[in-house]
Amino acid sequence: MLEQMYDLSGKVAVVTGGSRGIGKAIALGLAEAGADILLNYSRSDKEADKVKKEIEKLGRKCVTVRANVGNFQQAQNIGKAAMNHFGKVDILVNNAGINRDRMLKRMTYEQWEEVIHTNLSSVFNCTKAVIDPLSKEGGVIVSVSSVIGEMGNIGQANYASTKAGIIGFTKTMARELAGSNVRVNAIAPGFVETDMLGTVPADIRETIKKDIPLGRFGTPEEIALATVYLCSPAASWITGVTLRINGGNYI
Ligand SMILES: NC(=O)c1ccc[n+]([C@@H]2O[C@H](COP(=O)([O-])OP(=O)(O)OC[C@H]3O[C@@H](n4cnc5c(N)ncnc54)[C@H](O)[C@@H]3O)[C@@H](O)[C@H]2O)c1
Repeated sequence: MLEQMYDLSGKVAVVTGGSRGIGKAIALGLAEAGADILLNYSRSDKEADKVKKEIEKLGRKCVTVRANVGNFQQAQNIGKAAMNHFGKVDILVNNAGINRDRMLKRMTYEQWEEVIHTNLSSVFNCTKAVIDPLSKEGGVIVSVSSVIGEMGNIGQANYASTKAGIIGFTKTMARELAGSNVRVNAIAPGFVETDMLGTVPADIRETIKKDIPLGRFGTPEEIALATVYLCSPAASWITGVTLRINGGNYI
């Protein structure tokens, strides 16, 4: 019975920003649980092709779509491609995100706007892109927020605003889509070993680590496990939550 509860065989999952880091781990995790994957990415064809091959090795189908999710039209193409190739969408994981950290005094409007579009407008854009098929069949949306969305952080006014916005969007969508049997949740990772964390200077990384009760950064796989859980029948009565995965960083 437990195995069945985590089985995603026959499901189709759209994962944004899936060519590396947390998105890649989520795409592979969902595939391992049985889902076919529409893998969105923005830059590297080579990275996306590598992930596609890894998914296919697991015996699942994978279609890659290059699109900037911050752009409304390009995001609609992701939904269209999923329908063309698979004929349905069961799961959407809004993972794509960037940071452009600066103290507010030095943050340009362009840095504000780029992060808002990529991290928050993208969640609106991609949800719109799949909302019709999802509402028809039922399904799941998981969006990647962050511990920073709840705590705030010096130099991250743009990033924190988007991650807090995702939580409000998630709660609203959970209410709007419950009647269509669509569950909508967010995850709020703490600091995870990816290229994004690599942009933080080494001394600041050490200071951050001291604030994590479990004493280490998370791995992309630990974030993927929680996401697969929220996407699976095991979480069938969970909607509107933000699941914190942070080694105790925010208790
Ligand atoms: N790494 C962390 O410590 C951490 C903590 C909390 C939340 N997060 C969130 O997790 C998500 C993934 O982060 P990561 O650490 O794996 O970062 P990453 O930089 O390794 O990967 C980000 C992914 O998003 C894609 N992307 C960026 N802009 C895009 C766009 N406009 N359109 C489509 N795809 C785009 C990138 O190509 C890449 O595949 C982000 O939303 C991030 O904010 C990360």
